[in-house]
Parts: sequence; structure tokens; C-alpha cells
Amino acid sequence: MRSLTFRRPDDWHVHFRDSVMMKAVVPYTARAFGRAIVMPNLTPPVTTAAMAADYRQRIMACVPEGVAFTPLMTCYLTDHTDAKDLIAGHKAGIFTAAKLYPAHATTNSAHGVTSVDHIMPVLEAMAEAGMPLLTHGEVTRAEVDIFDREARFAEEILAPLLQRVPKLRVVMEHITTQEGADLVLAHKDRMGATITPQHLLYNRNALFQGGLRPHMYCLPVLKRERHQLALRKAATSGEACYFLGTDTAPHLRHLKEADCGCAGVFSAPVAVAAYLQVFAEENALDRFEAFASLNGPAFYGLAPNDERVTYVERPARIAEEIEVDGAGRLVSLFAGTAAPWSQTV
Ligand code: NCD
Ligand code: ZN
Ligand code: ZN
Repeated sequence: MRSLTFRRPDDWHVHFRDSVMMKAVVPYTARAFGRAIVMPNLTPPVTTAAMAADYRQRIMACVPEGVAFTPLMTCYLTDHTDAKDLIAGHKAGIFTAAKLYPAHATTNSAHGVTSVDHIMPVLEAMAEAGMPLLTHGEVTRAEVDIFDREARFAEEILAPLLQRVPKLRVVMEHITTQEGADLVLAHKDRMGATITPQHLLYNRNALFQGGLRPHMYCLPVLKRERHQLALRKAATSGEACYFLGTDTAPHLRHLKEADCGCAGVFSAPVAVAAYLQVFAEENALDRFEAFASLNGPAFYGLAPNDERVTYVERPARIAEEIEVDGAGRLVSLFAGTAAPWSQTV
């Protein structure tokens, strides 16, 4: 049985939601990870430093006793973001980064940015302050094929933006394509990318395996195998620009198994095991710690976690469902099956 000891990892892309949902999901992330970048797409979105400070407190109230966990907060950019509040929030240690959701690209993005032209002064101020811009990298024009939206964003929006604001540091979140991986590598001095477990484990066939699979549906949507293989190569390459970000995105079961189902894969309970499976399959366990525990902190200018954790290649049963008090149930990645690795105490 293989075993691996490494520095406690961090998750550079999570959705905690709020209230009863948050209470149900925070413990999974807090037990497995030292820190997490918390996405701000609540309703209403987290758009000011005061809202982020409140949200951080509500998250901390959900962290189990005896567990050391630090949420890192982000600001949801809109066409009307106040650059002064944003930069002051960054300098005060409230905002680690700011998130660009193109309007209508994904869950709760209706208040997102309609054009980067509208936020140029904000982006210039962020570049000046060294505050990273995190992007949901998809164009939203209805006529663009959904499988091409990330590649088009990289070419039409991100590449020109990198030229226009030369000092801006950018994370392309949850990359799903060769084009995304290539753009980040070409600008690795100031770019990073998070990669989710589902985009490493699956390709778009998984969405239709024997029937329609709503729990495999997330945005950006799973792509064809060529891209899955490119992401596996990127994640296991040892390149410092690629790091762990699960994009764990819980939605209640009945809202995913619906006529118009929500996008998001809830992976927090099994995320580390899922990544370990990929690195084991790629014979790259020696590069796991860089991806999971070192590259992310280095990008954000933080020290890696000191604590070590150990995982063994021993299958662990995963529950069919997880109860959200009074609201419904969640179906996680690997639900009803086994996760291939488990953490030792
Ligand atoms: C995320 C969510 O549900 O908040 N969904 C998803 O499919 N990834 C939003 C996002 O990260 O785009
Ligand atoms: Zn997104
Ligand atoms: Zn996300």
C-alpha cells in the first residue's frame, strides 16, 4: 500500500455559500486544507471589504473546534467596484484577491463585469498594489459554442489584458483546455492556474455516461479527452504556475437533478484523494506536494503550511448523500463509491 506524507495542502478555489449550506460544507474543506480562497458569488455578492470581513466571521463560526483553518477572502468585481475600498481592503488584509466574473458566465454572476473596459482603473490599481485578479475565463456571447468559450476568453480577453496592464498578476481559475494551460505557462512569471479534480479525472463523455449525469455538470463544462490529457500533463509537470483549486461548488441535489440544473461539482469531502489518484496514475506522486502545497502559496506570496499530513492508498467508502439541515441533500464526487486514498489521523 503506497503512502504519501506532505505539507498540509491549501485549496485556492472554493465556494462555501452561506447559512445552513455553509455549515454543512465548511468542515470538509477545513479538515483537509490549511487555507482556502473563498469565492464571493453569494446572493448578494461580496463586493465590499465590510461584507468580506462579516462573511469571514460567519465562515470561522463553522470551522470545527480544534481545526486550524484560514479562509482567504475575495471581492466580487462589478462595473461599479470602488477601487479605493478594494485596495484599502487588500492593504488591511481582508481581501487576498478580486474575482472577475464575466456577467452571466456562471452561478450568481448576474452582477458581474460586462466588459473589462469598464474596470480598467480598478485593474490598474490592483496591478500597482500587487493584488491578484482571479478570472472565470469564459466569454459569454450566446453564439459562441460552449466548448469554445474558455479558449476564446484566453485569446480575446486575457491575452490583450495582459498586454494592456503589464504588471497585473492573474489566475485563470479552473482551466479546462490546452489553450488555457498554454496561456498561463507562457506568462508564468505573473500568472497562475487552478485545476479541479473533475477536469483531471474526466472528460465530456462522463456527462453522458449511460444517461445524463447532472452531478458531473460544472462550468467551465468538461471538455474532450485531448484537453483532459493536457491538464493532467500540466498539473503533474512540476511547473509552479499550476496549483490545486477544487472549485468545490455545492448545490442541493434537487437543484442539480432538475429541468435546468445548477452547475457545480461538490468535491470537498474527497478532493485530496481524487488528486492523489490522478498523480498516482501519472506516476507523479513525487510532484504532488508542489501542486497541492507549495505552488499556490508561492504565487500568493505566502509561506507553505508547516504541518505534515499523510495519506495512504486505502479505499474509503463515500456516503451517497450529505444532509444540509432543513434544506435538502448534497451528492459529492465519488458518492456511493470509494475514494481511492484516505488520510491517516
Ligand atoms: C460555481 C458555483 O456553483 O458557484 N459553479 C461551477 O460550475 N464551477 C461557479 C464557478 O466557479 O464558475
Ligand atoms: Zn468559475
Ligand atoms: Zn468556482
